Amino acid sequence: MEVALGAGTSDLVRFALDDGVALITIDNPPVNVTSQAVRAGLMAALDAADEAQVSRIVLTGAGTAFVAGADAREFDAPPQPPHLPDIIDRIEASDVPVVAAINGVALGGGLELTLGCAARVAAPTARLGLPEVTLGVIPGAGGTQRLPRLIGFGEAVAMISEGRIIAAEKALQIGLIDALDDDPVAAANALVLPDRPATGALPAPVLDCAATSAAQKGAAKRAKGQIAPLKAIELIEAATQLPLDQGLALERQTFLDLKTSDQAAALRHVFFAERSAMARGRKGGDEITEAVVVGGGTMGSAIAYALAQQSVRVTLVETDDAGAARARDTVAGLYDQAVQRGKIAPEAAEQALARNHSFQAGYDSLPAAQIAIEAVFEDLGVKREVFAALDAALPRTTILATNTSYLDPNSIADGLRDPARFLGLHFFSPAHLMKLVEVIRAQDTAPETLATVLRLTRRMGKIAVPAGVCDGFIGNRILTRYRQICDVMLIEGAMPAQIDAAMREFGMAMGPYEVQDLSGLDIAHANRQRLNWAARPDIRYIPIADRIVEETGRLGRKTGAGWYDYDEGKPLPSALIEGIVTQESERAGITRRAFTDAEIVDRATTAMFDEGLRILDEGIADSAADIDLVLIHGYGFPRWRGGPMHYAERQGQSALLKRIETYSEADPVTWTVPGVLRRLVADGDGLKTLMGDA
Ligand code: NAI
Repeated sequence: MEVALGAGTSDLVRFALDDGVALITIDNPPVNVTSQAVRAGLMAALDAADEAQVSRIVLTGAGTAFVAGADAREFDAPPQPPHLPDIIDRIEASDVPVVAAINGVALGGGLELTLGCAARVAAPTARLGLPEVTLGVIPGAGGTQRLPRLIGFGEAVAMISEGRIIAAEKALQIGLIDALDDDPVAAANALVLPDRPATGALPAPVLDCAATSAAQKGAAKRAKGQIAPLKAIELIEAATQLPLDQGLALERQTFLDLKTSDQAAALRHVFFAERSAMARGRKGGDEITEAVVVGGGTMGSAIAYALAQQSVRVTLVETDDAGAARARDTVAGLYDQAVQRGKIAPEAAEQALARNHSFQAGYDSLPAAQIAIEAVFEDLGVKREVFAALDAALPRTTILATNTSYLDPNSIADGLRDPARFLGLHFFSPAHLMKLVEVIRAQDTAPETLATVLRLTRRMGKIAVPAGVCDGFIGNRILTRYRQICDVMLIEGAMPAQIDAAMREFGMAMGPYEVQDLSGLDIAHANRQRLNWAARPDIRYIPIADRIVEETGRLGRKTGAGWYDYDEGKPLPSALIEGIVTQESERAGITRRAFTDAEIVDRATTAMFDEGLRILDEGIADSAADIDLVLIHGYGFPRWRGGPMHYAERQGQSALLKRIETYSEADPVTWTVPGVLRRLVADGDGLKTLMGDA
């Protein structure tokens, strides 16, 4: 029997009575987040249950989720009553047992809600976790205090500090739930209640130092520089010492402090940016089932493999039979890796390779694919020949995509029958693992072409960032500027190892020179030649990198040396390179000076921001958040700093303007004040508005 709750409550929480049992259903589509109205509804439902004098209360969620957590729209506002911890306290103190029927995901506050209950039953498909640290906070409604009391210190510290989400079966194994059932509501009704006190009244967990240090080490590796995982570990440690009420108070205070921290703001920014990027490709476009990939090297093979994971059949085209055989080996190697990681059974891998892939030399009898992706050598002539051949061999409707890093897609498309179905699809290496893909709008790319490709990238689980045509698109253009600024610092007085260390300390996955040694110095060298940097008046040309390539043949790790010498894989500063650096300073008449690490970081990040702003102003990127996603997912920018645009914006637009003006006075070639920044500052809150944060 459905009963209406009192006036002033919403219909987001439903209340029904059946044979002395109250069923409370949270119904806040799509995933039942605990918005203020839901919290108010829960309080009203608990009142109604009290009044009806029921013998048991069952708490569940409507649809496919139990409760997926807090309402993201309320993240930035001060919390409004009733507060979740108060609801959970009330459930825990209830004379009538409350049983959670976890029908789907129970995350964050959703899982904390169930921890106040006397018992938990979950559907086998449910997933449970406290992922708060991934948003720069900690569980703020008892999770750090109740979970370790329920499942023990070690399991809790791992789960919370990693923000790990576990399957229902695992939850049963570790004692987080009491039963698994396809019909969790019926099972929660019938469950014989376990003979144990309320979770909060369980004995304090026992400290496990080994688990603490493993969690600290894991956090240092996975979430380098992030505060929240370490705070979470401290709170779980506190649970071993403090009575529940004191532990809860400490947790709440820590939660509120972290909620307004820079890191939480940055991680929320990235969360929303990712959410809108993932929503791309949800509407429109055609489903792709058959693809052609041309070029079976590093990129082409991994792209073919990634497509096949979505059951797209892929024909990979190489120049000759030997190339086709090599490509087959490379793709088979990717399946082997998946087998070794336990992701797929050996027989299934073999079947997938046979079913979804074919390899051939040339373009004869290609299937009528809906898309062809080119990943051959980075050479305009070669690419144009490939597209002419594809255009002739495939239906007029086939979408044609290039994976070029730096060439002009409009030149590549020149001469096609129908340039409206041409675009760039810039994957990152390794293409089957990296989530980022830049989707490049060429001058004639039709909206339907874009829609179909975005639908495909979404299916592949990629974060797709649309970009217009310019040299390097979004990511490589900013990378080029970043490296240029670092080279300027080299010639003025810094050394590669110091710059790398400063940027790593800031949070970059690697320093700029280590990365070059990993990816090879030849690519950037070829680019500088192509763009004739040495003769350009708008670029302060620093010859150091070109001299390394041309005079020493050191191309990075692949030749055993680059910016660094290597001793059994360990990078060591090189006297030879430092010699070239100081020589170039002398030759340019520069008295070398010391740089502080903070100065290095300021210059490098300001350069990224400056270039990003220009990219935005030119309409190359659709939003500042997209630029942040590219740098975070493609170039190792620390997620918890929010990306270069967010990071800069937090420093204030006037400070940024002033900084660039100062740099520009000393070095007007390397630094010019972007006109758009002046306009934004003149607007008052221009940069904030631009970031969507105002
Ligand atoms: P790669 O040298 O590993 O592979 C190129 C492959 O293309 C070779 O197997 C070659 O036999 C084949 N090939 C050359 N001409 C061909 C033709 N006319 N027909 C058929 N096959 C032909 O190169 P990689 O690294 O895979 O790069 C391919 C493209 O992807 C380039 O445009 C590159 O700029 C771009 N790219 C590379 C990234 C990387 O990190 N390696 C990242 C993003 C884009």
